[in-house]
Amino acid sequence: MSSGLILGIESSCDETSAAVVRGGREVLSNVVASQLVHADYGGVVPELASREHLRAILPVVRAALAQAGVGYAELDAVAVTEGPGLAGALLVGIAFAKALAFGAGKPLIAVNHLEGHIHAVLMDTASTVSSRPESAHFADGMERPASSEQSPLLALVVSGGHTHLYLAIRTPRQIWLYRNVGKTLDDAAGEAFDKVAKLLGLPYPGGPWMDALAAHGVADTALFPFTQIKQKASGNTAAKLARERLDPDDPTRFDMSFSGLKTAVRRYVETHAMQPAIAAREQALRREGLYRARLGEANVGTALQHFDATTLDLIASFQDAVVKNLVRATAHAAEHFGARGVLVSGGVSANRQLRRAMQEAFAGRLTVAFPTVALATDNAAMIAAAAWPKFLAQEFAPETLEPTPQLRLG
Ligand code: KG4
Ligand code: ZN
Repeated sequence: MSSGLILGIESSCDETSAAVVRGGREVLSNVVASQLVHADYGGVVPELASREHLRAILPVVRAALAQAGVGYAELDAVAVTEGPGLAGALLVGIAFAKALAFGAGKPLIAVNHLEGHIHAVLMDTASTVSSRPESAHFADGMERPASSEQSPLLALVVSGGHTHLYLAIRTPRQIWLYRNVGKTLDDAAGEAFDKVAKLLGLPYPGGPWMDALAAHGVADTALFPFTQIKQKASGNTAAKLARERLDPDDPTRFDMSFSGLKTAVRRYVETHAMQPAIAAREQALRREGLYRARLGEANVGTALQHFDATTLDLIASFQDAVVKNLVRATAHAAEHFGARGVLVSGGVSANRQLRRAMQEAFAGRLTVAFPTVALATDNAAMIAAAAWPKFLAQEFAPETLEPTPQLRLG
């Protein structure tokens, strides 16, 4: 008889993770080994990531099983991230999962990383995301299965690699279907956070640092006016729109843009001759060991000593503009598609200002659900949770499963 136990494995970027989840909801363990080696380089170095995954995968899987008190024989299936992500990094997880599934005689389930992020929220909040009783409509005539109680939901997946809006629809077979209705046309929001952080002398990943430091600055809304896609549809953005056959005037698309904000920060740094202070700050933070430390209250306090008021205001202003762009696109799309709930997931969903702004934007109208902070960034519990409906539908992966670095959702 099935005990509902799925071992999830995630290795798409710079976190090696394994988790045991029962019935798609109950997290028995969720072990995450974060690769601190990338902090020095201002971004993930693919070769280093693969090497670190190789080193970590076996101990991480063993720890996940031990913490859950579960042996290989008790598992119902092994689930693994198929993509999107770094090819070499994905390969480590997939090769390991295939060998394990084969050796233990368990089915293998392939999971899209983006669907995993959405399930990080659903596994926590499936009973609360449905808040609006009236039936949903699709302005463009898309059909909604009659028995999908909680759908459509509007899901914003916002991380270092993605900033995507999806309509998520639950079918009568309890399988989720997704349709992409918006995305960033250039940088992902997390990537913009990380690049601006690097520009200001902070370690990678900079998003959590920016979040902590922004609280000590005052946002100047005049500094970064909204980046309007239509006004921006020139150069690279226009070429990208043409390549992907997207129409900037399509009223059913809710695309976003963040590279303009990053460029505006760079220009501000140049015109205010901030580089010498930034170089000195980076030196100081390295000397104090903050480039190889996990973020905590104590080291934010130490870092703050190296920031002047203007830089803190710049950080607060940048974060404010990113958050407003995300909230605006999400609110417009939710309205347009008659969403019955909103969920926000991915690494950037840990951002405190984003959480506040989303709650405020939908207050009294729709429930906005977020994952717990531990489930917001990459982890394997979300992969095991997303695999559960597939397990029930017996949707198994072939033994020939390979990474799909550009895998899309919807
Ligand atoms: O989902 P995730 O762990 O990995 C990807 O799939 O990309 O997201 C990592 C991203 C990084 O860009 C990181 O800087 C950002 O999420 N991030 C944050 C915060 N925590 C993580 N960005 C802003 N504020 C945060 N609190
Ligand atoms: Zn992710």
